Amino acid sequence: MWDSVADAWERNADIVDAHMSSATDALLAAARIGSGDAVLDLATGPGGAGIAAAARVGESGRVVLADVAPAMVGVAARRAAGFPQVSTRVCDQLKIEAADESFDAVLCRHGLMFAEAPADAVREARRVLRPGGRYAAMTWDARAANPWLGLILDAVGEQFGVPFPPPSVLGPFALDDPARLADVLSSGGLDDVHVARVATPMHVASLEAWWDRVPELAGPLAQALAGMEDDVRAAIRSRALEHGAAAARPRDDGIEMDGSVLVASGHCAP
Ligand SMILES: C[S@@+](CC[C@H](N)C(=O)[O-])C[C@H]1O[C@@H](n2cnc3c(N)ncnc32)[C@H](O)[C@@H]1O
Repeated sequence: MWDSVADAWERNADIVDAHMSSATDALLAAARIGSGDAVLDLATGPGGAGIAAAARVGESGRVVLADVAPAMVGVAARRAAGFPQVSTRVCDQLKIEAADESFDAVLCRHGLMFAEAPADAVREARRVLRPGGRYAAMTWDARAANPWLGLILDAVGEQFGVPFPPPSVLGPFALDDPARLADVLSSGGLDDVHVARVATPMHVASLEAWWDRVPELAGPLAQALAGMEDDVRAAIRSRALEHGAAAARPRDDGIEMDGSVLVASGHCAP
């Protein structure tokens, strides 16, 4: 599924990284990324969080960008070409191809919620952390706090009279509760777990540009829309634009919609 949207992620990677810029600073601060660190970025997609970490670890450190989708790893490798300290790997966050205790920090930006058993994913990340190593994950906050994405999912759900994504599919809001997220990290064996909210408003040139960008990035949504008749897709689009108009704030250079993420962190016992 994620391989099929890798092209769209490559085209939009700089925009996604700009949208996530202050939240990524919070993620790297929570993982206390510093010069010389060995860092693993799981579910790296086009590599934005890991590449930001590479700038902090410098050439004495190393960063591995890892993702289960080979096409995403290809995008990450192209984007990281100027960083000799960065390498890439195809692997699942539930079965990391790395030795025990081989990293100072593990990052995961918008990937932990896609694990069927997220505490197992954290436990696997902990395995590759050295004693005292740090883990930090970012997930989307509640759907109501993220109208830039939630309204598009709602428009699909309203079209068919059922929630989208269906409850059987792990969607972007699968780890949107701070208490549950903290429990996932603690159950995965981490100590001193903290969860913080970071505001991530989305700026975009117009409502039409919002519709053109967001659905093509959302893996399950992109697939679902591609399989629909044109008139059904058009009905969903007009419903989304109508709801979006009510949620958008005008700016000089376009519109802004609310957004919010959770940044969760913990560390291994020394
Ligand atoms: C929403 S994208 C986030 C990409 C990137 N971290 C970012 O923030 O720009 C989710 C990514 O998680 C990856 N992913 C999903 N399940 C995974 C798993 N079990 N193990 C590793 N990566 C996974 C997908 O391939 C996709 O690249």
